[in-house]
Amino acid sequence: MDTATIAATAAEAVRRCRELAECTEEPGVTTRTFLSAPMHDVHARVTRWMQAAGMTVAVDAAGNIRGVYPGTATRPARLYIGSHLDTVPGAGAFDGILGVMLGLALVESLGGRRLPFAIEVVGFSEEEGVRFGTPFIGSRALAGTLDGALLSRQDASGRTVSDAIRAFGLDPSRVGEACVAPDALGYLEFHIEQGPVLDGRGLPLGVVDAIAGQSRLMLTFSGATNHAGTTPMTMRRDALAGAAEWITAVERTAATIEGLAATVGHVQATPSVVNMIVGRCDVSLDVRHREDQARLRAYDSLLRLAGEIATRRGLVLAYEHHLDQRATPMDAALTTLLATAVESTGAPVAHLTSGAGHDAMILACRLPAAMLFLRSPGGVSHHPDETVHETDVAAALTAGLRFLDLLAAAQP
Ligand code: HGY
Ligand code: MN
Ligand code: MN
Repeated sequence: MDTATIAATAAEAVRRCRELAECTEEPGVTTRTFLSAPMHDVHARVTRWMQAAGMTVAVDAAGNIRGVYPGTATRPARLYIGSHLDTVPGAGAFDGILGVMLGLALVESLGGRRLPFAIEVVGFSEEEGVRFGTPFIGSRALAGTLDGALLSRQDASGRTVSDAIRAFGLDPSRVGEACVAPDALGYLEFHIEQGPVLDGRGLPLGVVDAIAGQSRLMLTFSGATNHAGTTPMTMRRDALAGAAEWITAVERTAATIEGLAATVGHVQATPSVVNMIVGRCDVSLDVRHREDQARLRAYDSLLRLAGEIATRRGLVLAYEHHLDQRATPMDAALTTLLATAVESTGAPVAHLTSGAGHDAMILACRLPAAMLFLRSPGGVSHHPDETVHETDVAAALTAGLRFLDLLAAAQP
């Protein structure tokens, strides 16, 4: 395919990402959580684009949109290409969405050419974990790990995952049908790096060798609400002060452990009134590391520290484990093929470990998975300023087409 057509296809993929960013729960920003109303609009637009590319389109019981581009009849083999269509609140336009648009752009770039395998482009319904506190609902359906416990998880309003699926017009009892096909060749995910590495090194693309493991936890410090003016400092059980002491200790501890990322992203003080001592403080913890032992050691020591601070301050600590996702290496053979494809574009081949979690780490338990990162200008993500260079999207498209040819040549 000539460079002008590649550039135009890449520009359209970027334009589509920005168009889908308008499908939001919150006017003025991009917020699209699990099977919220704007996802219907996203599905309608993506369906039109997929059908125009010669794909048959369906939405599975977990709300994943799935477009299939058939291969040559002789072999039923299939390559999955996808990423997620949900977003964090106040998101950028490219986290997840670009991976789906690049899968679609690859099919369009085949221009009707058939490969010795089908291509299934998947837009996962949920990867961020915003609504139900635990991520990867969409890709768990394809991996066959969307179990009853997860389907009955409740959101802040008390509605379950199954309720959300039914409200979207789907049947949760059929999530088992969403599993990947037994003839799956593998899974390829394009994703923005969401960090500063490629941008810092002036590189457009990076091959992902592994994805860091992550743990997520919700803690509650409980003390005693009281009058801010009459309660002596020595007679307080201030839940917010206790949580604050722990939060600064989380940051201090993480700074001493190489390769560890520990974040408190959610804090909820109750009551939250100027002249009242906070009686309850809910906080989250997100811990990541490329080595599982290091992550679990840090997780345990930070939880122990929360207990020690609570005891010393006369507070009660409660907590709920929300996620324990082990670190996941990408498939060596598929990743080698991807690195060869990138090299063929003339771009230097950088290898990275991903600090962000991705659907590839869920599918990797069922089929060979590989990921290609695109540079994040300024290393910005989970923010409206998140962006991409169109030339990098064109480079990813070129590498992706080369990857398809290499995979086709490797078929018996
Ligand atoms: O949080 C993450 O790792 C990803 O953005 N879901
Ligand atoms: Mn994200
Ligand atoms: Mn993502």
